Amino acid sequence: MNFNLTEEQQMIQAAARNFARERIAPVAADFDQSGEFPLDNIRAMGELGLMGIEVPEEYGGAGLDTIGYVLAMIEVCAADAAHGTIMSVNNSLFCNGIFKHGSEEQRERFVRAVASGAEIGAYALTEPQSGSDASNMKSRAIRSADGSHYVINARKSWITSGPYARYIVVFAMTDPEAGARGVSAFIIDTEKPGFSCGKTEPKLGIRASATCEIELADYECPADCLLGSEGEGFKIAMGVLDAGRIGIAAQAVGIAQAAYEASVVWTRERKAFGREIGRFQMIQSKIADMKSRLEAARLLTLHAAWSKQQAQASGARFTLDGSMAKLVASEAAMWIAHQAVQIHGGMGYSKELPIERYFRDAKITEIYEGTSEIQRMVIGRLETGLR
Ligand code: CAA
Repeated sequence: MNFNLTEEQQMIQAAARNFARERIAPVAADFDQSGEFPLDNIRAMGELGLMGIEVPEEYGGAGLDTIGYVLAMIEVCAADAAHGTIMSVNNSLFCNGIFKHGSEEQRERFVRAVASGAEIGAYALTEPQSGSDASNMKSRAIRSADGSHYVINARKSWITSGPYARYIVVFAMTDPEAGARGVSAFIIDTEKPGFSCGKTEPKLGIRASATCEIELADYECPADCLLGSEGEGFKIAMGVLDAGRIGIAAQAVGIAQAAYEASVVWTRERKAFGREIGRFQMIQSKIADMKSRLEAARLLTLHAAWSKQQAQASGARFTLDGSMAKLVASEAAMWIAHQAVQIHGGMGYSKELPIERYFRDAKITEIYEGTSEIQRMVIGRLETGLR
């Protein structure tokens, strides 16, 4: 077992850390307050290679591995989880899925634009009536008689980056009778007629990542924008989420790390009863548990990234590792952020410090890309072989 990072992994980690400290951390609170989308930073992150970390350089990405992606996500999310959400959707849910399942033409047209940060990508699976029960979708795609295009009617909700995305991977039923096997995936261009955005969600956390409903009304999708084959969409969606969950685990580690580090500093500076609060055993106990859970989450997340890299050659699934990493890291982040608020007392509750933002941002990691309950279900089914 070798825990040393390669030179390339160290480089992307340092690049992400520098950008996060210089460009993201100073503006994070303002973007959180206003809910404005940090478009300039996202474009600049694209120029640094942070929007398509695993995409080969010849397609506009950084050409690095999943461990590099995880390391960069941790750095960005330690500064601001909302930037990390936009980054993770571009990387995991958009670029990786199209790179893996797309045609050469789709890679050239869609991956290059999003990986370089010139355009923003999104992923639309959830519908108003189907979140966890993802295959229970009402969206429909009907192939035209001459086979040249599909007519899509769809309503999707909770679409991260929806209002700013140029391209979105949308899942719709081409064969409603076939259930999950009747789902197909399409890459849609939001500048074409038939696409519209609905209400933007007023969210508890990750407020600078714009999240909205989208609607496709008789949208004509050219047949060459079908991703993979007809009926393959649900497996594509699930496989993409396996990778996406590793990104969310990394996001959780980043938030937890920021909350933990701020807490350590606070325990050295804040005095009560005539001494630093870090001298009290009850505070030391919290710090010990926070640090242990943080590092356990980090290891599981890096292990899941390694597991995905190993699976790339064999084509094996890494579902179990992705789900375990997301489950453990998201719950660690929520718990650590909770302790951080408690350690900071009143100041943990105030918007003068970022602690309350870590607390609000941590919560989403237990919800999106599969709730903790769904991760437990996935792990339980895989381990017992029962359902
Ligand atoms: N990889 C490949 N194939 C998979 C798979 C995976 N990880 N998981 C399931 N499949 C395949 C199965 O093998 C099965 O194929 P066959 O029909 O050939 O046997 C098919 O998919 C159906 O699988 P299940 O019967 O297991 O499906 P299910 O209906 O019981 O659902 C589920 C499984 C795990 C609950 C799934 O619905 C799920 O993950 N739900 C959560 C959805 C989710 O995470 N949504 C997040 C939305 S994205 C988001 O949050 C966006 C954002 O913007 C950040």
